[in-house]
Amino acid sequence: MNGLSMIVLGIETSCDETAAAVVNSERDILSNVVLSQIKEHSPYGGVVPEIAARAHVEVIDKVIARAMSEAGLNFDDLDGVAVTGGPGLIGGVIVGVMTAKAIALSRSLPFAAVNHLEAHALTVRLSGGRDGRSVKFPYLLLLVSGGHCQLLIVKDVGCYSLIGTTLDDALGEAFDKTAKMLGLGYPGGPQVEQWALDGDADRFVLPRPMFGREGCDFSFSGLKTKVRQTIQNLPAGEICKTDLADLCASFQRAAGDVVEDRCANAIRFFREEYPFSGDLVAAGGVAANKNLRSRLTGLAENFNIPFHAPPVYLCTDNAAMVAWAGIEQLRHRGPDALDFKPRPRWPLGSGMAQAPN
Ligand code: KG4
Ligand code: ZN
Repeated sequence: MNGLSMIVLGIETSCDETAAAVVNSERDILSNVVLSQIKEHSPYGGVVPEIAARAHVEVIDKVIARAMSEAGLNFDDLDGVAVTGGPGLIGGVIVGVMTAKAIALSRSLPFAAVNHLEAHALTVRLSGGRDGRSVKFPYLLLLVSGGHCQLLIVKDVGCYSLIGTTLDDALGEAFDKTAKMLGLGYPGGPQVEQWALDGDADRFVLPRPMFGREGCDFSFSGLKTKVRQTIQNLPAGEICKTDLADLCASFQRAAGDVVEDRCANAIRFFREEYPFSGDLVAAGGVAANKNLRSRLTGLAENFNIPFHAPPVYLCTDNAAMVAWAGIEQLRHRGPDALDFKPRPRWPLGSGMAQAPN
């Protein structure tokens, strides 16, 4: 299949979005349908796995039909079906995988089971579009989502080297928990970002866990604990708007300082390994955060390294990234067998590379 033009249907059901998209190998996104379950989960302040799985079952057929019709295609026009095969909430992953297998089997189409993290990791190679420059391997990746916070060297499709990870919470989780403690809605990241716009980031003194330490690992639980204590020390009753905005801004600044510091170490390490090539890339839901994007842009400028992040709508979960990862995967190593088993856990990376100093 290498080099041949391809049109692939992608399906994503690993968390709280039911999504389907059609993408071609020329990097055109022909359709990109994302149905969020925010309404179903928001009364609980987070994703409830059973509710998510049921909601996926109820809408998956319609979401796929809409993606096909918006692309103006039928199943016979496809060259493959790609689906998130993990990691994620297993009930949801099973719904997507079974649906994708059924389409692949009934139309005799190649099937690709995609690692959700790899889909985030490769999105930047899609998002330049048909006329844009495709980011080349190797690149240094900051992968920040609701469940993951990692620094990886992306060497090729399927070839990753993990150089740093969180010792406790993921960055998106820290945003979500902060939002929850402040009584903001779910998902919390966009809410915290919005409130932070009007806040004073110097107002509250918050810790920067791991800042200045060797290596590329992260930790956010100490920051979260201090946010909780700070809230407890505020005047009793409803938190006033100024305090809310200032706390969001202070949290975002502290988290950003940590990310910038860890990424600086990662760039130094990456540069030693690959002195003549390689860009810095951010991906995953938290990469939608404009403050973080601008800080990473500044950091990359200081190191004279090109920086890329997908457009915001391709940072949070979607199926265009799954379709694209499917195209890359089908070209690279061909289709997966239809007896693929959904994987609740599926780490990226061949293990820790040499710990950078
Ligand atoms: O990649 P994603 O959509 O799902 C996972 O694979 O986890 O990431 C979701 C996470 C959530 O924690 C959400 O709060 C966070 O990304 N997020 C943001 C923003 N948009 C989404 N965090 C900070 N600022 C944002 N603008
Ligand atoms: Zn994701």
